[in-house]
Amino acid sequence: MTLFPETVKAGLSESITARAIANGIIGLNTYDIRDFSKDKHRHVDDYIYGGGAGMLMAPDPIVSCFEHVRDSIVEKGGTDKPRVLLMTPVGDAFNQQMAEELSKEEDIVLLCGHYEGIDERAIELIVTDRVSIGDFVLTGGELPAMMIIDAVSRLVPGVLGSDESAFDESFTKGLLEYPQYTRPPEYRGLTVPEVLLSGHHQNIADWRFEQSLERTKQIRPELYEAYIASHEEELKKYMKRTKKSLI
Ligand code: ADE
Repeated sequence: MTLFPETVKAGLSESITARAIANGIIGLNTYDIRDFSKDKHRHVDDYIYGGGAGMLMAPDPIVSCFEHVRDSIVEKGGTDKPRVLLMTPVGDAFNQQMAEELSKEEDIVLLCGHYEGIDERAIELIVTDRVSIGDFVLTGGELPAMMIIDAVSRLVPGVLGSDESAFDESFTKGLLEYPQYTRPPEYRGLTVPEVLLSGHHQNIADWRFEQSLERTKQIRPELYEAYIASHEEELKKYMKRTKKSLI
């Protein structure tokens, strides 16, 4: 639900999301909130009670639009109480765990705000989750919605090919990715780490794991601490097997 349906469609119209939509693995329907304005000039916004700069999206076009979306979901055999995500900086921080939960839902409705925001009553009436994609303010919810659709879609079985698999080893989940290389073996004086050319699968897996751990420690110390705290046993076993002291 957006005032800019073409933006959202265009943002997902290439590459993996486009293929998933074309193959019917996921469906994307955009609804123009302006189509639900009862105003002859198709207005959807109004001045703000109490004063202040800018305009606010009025409740009725949004709630009417939602009722139409809900009816379409019910018509195709879905729930009459879908998750409705409001894109807003005043929300829970979106993360991979949320993406995983959402990927299990049959239907998700995303509501994109614009202008200064949305009348609180529309939110109270229809929104189930307020979601922020980060501590910064955008001009509208369309980019956040596209990000969420992208992150959730790639977790839906069949969206990624086996080469692009989203499968996450539980042992390395929560760590940042290790560095990767392709040909040539030497580029502008920089070489590919020897172990990756060795063909020794266990050594390669160990190298990648240690790189992930080290990178996470340097770049995202809070993720590193959380990982260490929740993988004590596995790390002990790992250090025993490799005779390395990692932490
Ligand atoms: N709309 C504007 N800024 C936003 C943000 N950071 N996250 C989600 N929706 C938004």
